[in-house]
Amino acid sequence: MIKHPAILLIAGTLTLAILLPACISNTYEKEVVEVAGPGLATQMNSIQHWSHKLGLSVEAENMELTDFYLHELEEAAEFLIETVEEYDGYPIAELTQVKLVPGLEALEAAVDSGEWEQIRRDYTGLVASCNSCHTATDHGYIVITEGYGNNPFNQEF
Ligand code: HEC
Repeated sequence: MIKHPAILLIAGTLTLAILLPACISNTYEKEVVEVAGPGLATQMNSIQHWSHKLGLSVEAENMELTDFYLHELEEAAEFLIETVEEYDGYPIAELTQVKLVPGLEALEAAVDSGEWEQIRRDYTGLVASCNSCHTATDHGYIVITEGYGNNPFNQEF
């Protein structure tokens, strides 16, 4: 056993010197993880990407792809709700829950039914819900379209 106080002090100091930076860097990493992640516009970019491919899959009546892109869009909506509570004073998570989620759920039910006419109607309804949130958040000039045809973006320019 080490008994001499000076040796104990040195041992203690060494232990602290090793452990303290590790603790600090752990806290630091945790904070970075919590605040990092794509901002609203970047998330909207992915949401537009998934919803456009969803629309093209609906237009082509490809059920596997429609199902796949709807799922990606649902995950993107969940991530938005989890990560962006507010933006410019607008309650983004709440608006997404109220405006976008019901449209996604309706479309999911239509996809389960396999009725393409209903799927197309609910897809159009989903696009309308994107635009209704843009209007509600003072971004009404960002007009999303079904994206059928040749426009490289499902958006009005
Ligand atoms: C919660 C409200 C809300 C919903 C729901 C919403 N948006 Fe947005 N969207 C916004 C806001 C606010 C901005 C502006 C972000 C900024 O100023 O950085 C935006 C910006 C955008 C942009 C511009 C960024 C870019 O990449 O060009 C696109 C495109 C877009 N949204 C697409 C969509 C699509 C597609 C949907 C539906 C599937 C949708 N949004 C649903 C609020 C919403």
